[in-house]
Amino acid sequence: MFKIAVLVSGSGTNLKAIIDSIENGYLKNVFIETVVSNKKDAFALEIAKKSGINTKVFSLEEFESKEKREQAIISYLKEKDIDLVVLAGFMLILSKDFVDAFKDKIINIHPSLIPSFCGEGFYGLKVHKAVLESGVKITGATVHFVTEEADAGPIILQDSVFVDDDDTEKSLQKKVMQKVEWQILPQAINLIAKNKITIKDGIVRRI
Ligand code: GRF
Repeated sequence: MFKIAVLVSGSGTNLKAIIDSIENGYLKNVFIETVVSNKKDAFALEIAKKSGINTKVFSLEEFESKEKREQAIISYLKEKDIDLVVLAGFMLILSKDFVDAFKDKIINIHPSLIPSFCGEGFYGLKVHKAVLESGVKITGATVHFVTEEADAGPIILQDSVFVDDDDTEKSLQKKVMQKVEWQILPQAINLIAKNKITIKDGIVRRI
C-alpha cells in the first residue's frame, strides 16, 4: 500500500476528490493513512471522518510556538511512515526542516497556472481576483512538488480553463476546482504512487 497523508485547512473538496478516486478504483493501492489539519473546525475533517479516515488536529494553542507545532507534525508523519504528503488547501507555509524531512515527498495543489499568480499572498480567492484583474483569458491549476520557496517546486501536472467575460472570483474558483483541481490532484498522486515520474534538474519527467 502507498500511504498518503492529506494536510488540510479548509473545505476539503480536494480531499473528497482523492477519497472518491480511491473508492471508484482509479487510485489503486493508495491508502489515506491520516488527514491532518491545523484548524479544528476545518470542514475537511468532517469529510475524512465520514469516510472513516483517521484525523489529527494540530492547533496552535496546543503548542508553545509555530516551530514546535511543525516539529510535532513532522514527528507524527514520520511515525506513520508516510510515502507522500499531499497539501490540499493547507494554509501553512512549510519550513526548510519540514521540506527536508520529506524530500521530494510533498506535493501541493495551487489554483493557477504556475509561474503566474503564485507565491506569497496568492491563496484562495485572491488568486482568482488577480487573474480577473490581469485580463488573462486562460487560467487553471498546478500540482507541484513542494520546496522551500512557495509555489516554486517542480511542476507535475497542469490543466486550464477559459476565463469568460462574466466570470467572478467565485465562479472562476468553482470552475478551476471542478474542471481542473479535482482531476489533476488524483492524477498526480497516481503517477507518483505508480513510480511513473522522476525529477531531473528541477524538471518532472515521465518514466
Ligand atoms: C484549493 O483551491 C486549492 O487549490 C488551494 O486551496 C483550496 C482548497 O480547497 N490550495 P479545498 O479545501 O480542497 O476545498
